[in-house]
Amino acid sequence: EDDALVIFTPSGKRGRFPLGTPVLTAARQLGVDLDSVCGGRGICSKCQITPGYGEFPKHGVTVDADALSEWNAVEERYKSKRGMIDGRRLGCQAKVMGDVVIDVPPESQVHKQVIRKSATERVIEMDPATRLFYVEVAEPDMHEPTGDFERLAIALRDQWQIEDVEADLHLLRRLQTTLRKGEWKVTVALHKGNHDARHTILDIWPGFHEGGIYGLAIDLGSTTIAAHLCDLKDGRVLASSGVMNPQIRFGEDLMSRVSYAMMNPGGDQEMTNAVREAIDNLSLSIAAEAEVHVGAIYEIVFVCNPVMHHLLLGIDPVELGQAPFALATSGSLSLEARDLGLGNVNRAARVYVLPCIAGHVGADAAAVALSEEPGKSEDMVLIVDVGTNAEILLGNKTRVLACSSPTGPAFEGAQISSGQRAAPGAIERVEIDPVTKEPRFRVIGSDLWSDDPGFGAATATSGITGICGSGIIEAVAEMRMAGLVDPGGLIGGPDQTGTARCVAEGRTHSYVLHDGSAEGGPRIMVTQGDIRAIQLAKSALYAGARLLMDEMGVDTVDRVTLAGAFGAHISPKHAMVLGMIPDAALDKVTSAGNAAGTGARIALCNVAARDQIETTVHQIHKIETAIEPRFQEHFVNANAIPHATDPFPHLAG
Ligand code: FES
Repeated sequence: EDDALVIFTPSGKRGRFPLGTPVLTAARQLGVDLDSVCGGRGICSKCQITPGYGEFPKHGVTVDADALSEWNAVEERYKSKRGMIDGRRLGCQAKVMGDVVIDVPPESQVHKQVIRKSATERVIEMDPATRLFYVEVAEPDMHEPTGDFERLAIALRDQWQIEDVEADLHLLRRLQTTLRKGEWKVTVALHKGNHDARHTILDIWPGFHEGGIYGLAIDLGSTTIAAHLCDLKDGRVLASSGVMNPQIRFGEDLMSRVSYAMMNPGGDQEMTNAVREAIDNLSLSIAAEAEVHVGAIYEIVFVCNPVMHHLLLGIDPVELGQAPFALATSGSLSLEARDLGLGNVNRAARVYVLPCIAGHVGADAAAVALSEEPGKSEDMVLIVDVGTNAEILLGNKTRVLACSSPTGPAFEGAQISSGQRAAPGAIERVEIDPVTKEPRFRVIGSDLWSDDPGFGAATATSGITGICGSGIIEAVAEMRMAGLVDPGGLIGGPDQTGTARCVAEGRTHSYVLHDGSAEGGPRIMVTQGDIRAIQLAKSALYAGARLLMDEMGVDTVDRVTLAGAFGAHISPKHAMVLGMIPDAALDKVTSAGNAAGTGARIALCNVAARDQIETTVHQIHKIETAIEPRFQEHFVNANAIPHATDPFPHLAG
C-alpha cells in the first residue's frame, strides 16, 4: 500500500494520505485545528503533536513504531535549543509512513479554549482579530518591477491564503529595512476586525518573531477601571489590575458628571483627558506587572456604561442627562488607540468598543449579556451587575429585557459613615447573635472571625479600618434579623433592643459594630444614615428588577445571578433579607464574578463574539427606568426591609 490511515484526536477526524505526507498537511486537509505560525518551516514549534503507538481498538488500528518518519535534524535542533516534551513531534516535520493516531494537545490548537477558573465561567474559544504570520517574501528582481509591499502581499496570499492586505505609512517606512534585515523572511502581526474587509499589518519583524502579542480587556466603570492583560495567542490572563476612575473628582456618580459637563465649559474634555490618562498609565503598570513590553499590546477592548463611553470617546455626554437620553451612537466602534490619545500601547494598536444597548444601558450590560447569555437560558434568569449604577437583565430563550438603575455608590462603601473600599482591614462578613445582639465579623485579609483565638494577631498589620460594601449589607441584614432594626429601617434604642451597643446619636441611634478606640483604632458603627443610604440603593436595585418582571409578566424568577466584582462578595441570603433582589431559592442565587470584564475578554479573544453581541443587543428590549411611573411606586415599596408588599417565601425558616 502506498497510503495510510491518519486519525486525529481529540477531533476524531480521519483520512487516508499518501506515504510521506507531513502530519501538518494531513491536518490541514482534514480541517483539524493544528496551529502553525511559520507555515511548516520548522521554526515556530506551534505544530507540536503527540503520536500514539500500539493497539487502538476504539479506532480499529494498530500503530507501528515506524508509523511516522524518523526524528529529523530540524526537530533535533529545535529540541536541543528550546526543549520539547518527550514523545512530542513537530507536525510539519514528521511524515506519515503507516497507519497512525495523532493527538493534538490543547496548546497546539489555534482555536484553543481558555482555561476556566470556575465551572460557571463561559468557555472562551480563541479566535483573535490579531495574529502572527511568518512569511518568506520573493526578492526584488530587475525584470519584475513590483514593490516590496506588493511582494509581501503576494507571499501572504500564497503561503497563508490571506487576500487584501493593507499597511499604513509608518509601517511602510520600516518595511524595506525589515525585509532586508530578515533576508526576506519576516513575521507580521495582522489584524482583521469583524467589520474590516481587509487585513491590516500592525507590525513587522525580521525573521521569526519570538515575542508575544497582547491585548487589554478594560471594564471602564464610574468608580474603577479594571483591566485584564491577555495573551492573544492563548487567551491567558497574565495580569489583572484596577485603578480608581479619576473622574470621581468631578462627581461621584454618572449624573453628577453629566452635570459637571453641563455647568462647566470644557468640563467634558477635562473628564475625557483624565480618564484617558488613567488608562494610559494603567496600560503601562499592568504590562510591567505581567513583565511584557507595553508596546506589544496591539488591541484594547472596552466595555463601559453610556456616560463613560461618551467621555472615553471625547463626546459631550450632555444628551445622556435628559430625556430621551439619546446616545451619539449605540453601535460598536473600531478605532485606533491613537484616536483616543493612548500612547503607551503599540502605535498601531486597535480599539474595539462594545455596542451600547440604550441611553442608560451601556456596553457593560452588553458585555454581561455576552458572558452570561440570558437569551440561551431555559430558566427565567435575573442578572444584576451591582455597581454605582446597576445593570439589570431579565429573560430566557424567548425574550430578554434590560434596564439600569441609579443605585449610587453606597454598595461600594461610599456614603457610609465607616465605609471604605474592599481592602485589607475592611469588615466584609458580619453575624449578630439574635439573643445577645453581640456581633462577630471577619475582615479582608484574614480567615478568622473576630471571636476566634488569634484574630488579633492575624489582623495586627492591617488593623480593623472600616466596613466595605459586602460588610455593610451583611451588617444591615443581620441587624434586621436580630431585631435591632425595624422593617422601616429604624434602629432601636438600648431599651427597645436590650443592648448597650445601640447608642444614641442626636435623635437617632447607631449600632457599635466594633470599638477599637481603647487601642487607638476607629469606632466602627452602623448609623441611621448608613441604613437610609443602603435602603435607597437597594430600593433602586429592586425597583429596576421589579419593573422588568412586570414587563415580562412574571412574579418570580428561577435564578438570580449577581455580577460585578462586588456581586461576587455578596452573600445571597443577606441580599435577600435586605430585599435587594427578589425572592428565589437561595441555591439559585449565584455569583458570576466580573461578568462585564469577562464579556470584554471574550470580545478580545474571539472576533466572532463581536458579531454575536452586536446582534444580541438588537434583540434586547430596553426599559427606561427614569421615565417609567411604576418605577417610583416600586421604589417606595422596596424601601421597607425586605419589602412593603412583595412576599419572600424563601426567607421563611
Ligand atoms: Fe512551525 Fe511546524 S509549523 S514548526
